[in-house]
Amino acid sequence: MAEIAVIGAGYVGLTTAACFSHLGHDVTCADIDEARIAQLLRGEVPIVEAGLEALVREGLEEGRLRFVVGAANAAPSAEFAYLCVPTPQDDDGSADLSYIEAAAREIGPRLPSEAVVVNKSTVPVGSTRVVERVLGRDDVVVVSNPEFLREGSAVHDFLNPDRIVIGSDDQSAAVRVASLYIGVTAPIIVTDPPSAETIKYASNAFLAAKISFVNAIAAVCDAVGADVKDVVLGMGYDTRIGHEFLKPGPGFGGSCLPKDTRALVQIADSAGYSFDLMRGVISVNEDQFQRVAAKVRQMAGGSLDGVKVAVWGLTFKARTDDTRESPALRIVSLLADQGAEVQAYDPAIKGPVGGVVPANDPYSVCDGARVLAVLTEWDDFRWLDFDKVAGLMEAPRIVDARNLLDRPALERRGFTYVGIGR
Ligand code: UDX
Ligand code: UDX
Repeated sequence: MAEIAVIGAGYVGLTTAACFSHLGHDVTCADIDEARIAQLLRGEVPIVEAGLEALVREGLEEGRLRFVVGAANAAPSAEFAYLCVPTPQDDDGSADLSYIEAAAREIGPRLPSEAVVVNKSTVPVGSTRVVERVLGRDDVVVVSNPEFLREGSAVHDFLNPDRIVIGSDDQSAAVRVASLYIGVTAPIIVTDPPSAETIKYASNAFLAAKISFVNAIAAVCDAVGADVKDVVLGMGYDTRIGHEFLKPGPGFGGSCLPKDTRALVQIADSAGYSFDLMRGVISVNEDQFQRVAAKVRQMAGGSLDGVKVAVWGLTFKARTDDTRESPALRIVSLLADQGAEVQAYDPAIKGPVGGVVPANDPYSVCDGARVLAVLTEWDDFRWLDFDKVAGLMEAPRIVDARNLLDRPALERRGFTYVGIGR
């Protein structure tokens, strides 16, 4: 069992810390946010993530997981130091490495000899070298070990990964990092740091491309009168295509895909390649927000001025409380810009977000609404009382931007229904 420091207790850092302690390692997780650390020391997890709170409590109770304020306090006994701090977007779209560099600078002088620093944050190609330079220690190796976890299923994805990617020029360091995943069954790809860093961006970019492709196909279906659900079914049986990640919707959001697709275009540009395909993926996504807003305006009779619109869903996807780059919030602001009075509900959002003050229940937002827009695919919404909804609305009209609801059942109840590509 190893001594692991994890710097950053966010979605990626906290999941990494709790899962490594669950695998039996001794983990010290650090964050600059004192309130977050105090909460975690009480065994409370500040994010909605299935199974994470149980793992954090298990680690605390069994003495394998500690939380400290400041990276410096986690470094002294660390054989491995995982960097999981933010890599936000710079104005030009490139990834900002200042937090990574700050964390490396803080732990550098305190790490024991032969320690391994591991980049788990999504960092541009070449960042392993940047961290090596900042550390300035030739007895400490830097390795890239990108994360592929999805929010909402982070714990499952960490413990059951499709693959583990390790980028290092030092084979023994790569083997040491691979050995941390004891008990996890997955192919391990050991490559050089630039390739490992590129695997992360390429994977996220390809996932984003699948979504923009199916949203574009949905637009074609809208135009030619085809049903995108059947189209995707027919496509997906081709094992070279598969059914995964082909759900049409309001566009992709979250803390990763939008940021990483833009950063990849930047990385390619600075390396002299104009990644037009990826620019296309990004612009189709931007269009998708407009397309959904247009469907709501059309359903409202052509104008949104002074029109009450009910919205179900504010998070960027279901099973998370994360609203970073949420398509739902983009669409809500487009509707408001066009004069709509938006009332919104989301099961995971209790406080104001993105200029919206959500209601406490899904029915009150429907009161007097001319259109109901479903923007996040929370399963809860499928089991609501739609006769009650119809009774509350000005007239029963739904724009289902997630193709979540049962169209025939709603139409039998007198609803006018529009989906994405159907
Ligand atoms: C982060 C990055 O945003 C993402 O690019 C990367 O791929 C993985 O790690 P996430 O875990 O979702 O993603 O970020 P976030 O939930 O914002 O957590 C980051 C944590 O780091 C926060 O708790 C923040 O307080 C902490 N932090 C930030 C530090 O501990 N030190 C810093 O210098 C900056
Ligand atoms: C993503 C990657 O999946 C993960 O591997 C990586 O580590 C981090 O980024 P996440 O941001 O949690 O994970 O979200 P994901 O589940 O990928 O969804 C991204 C966006 O695409 C969401 O807005 C989601 O609603 C949308 N989406 C996803 C679709 O519109 N259709 C789909 O079929 C799948």
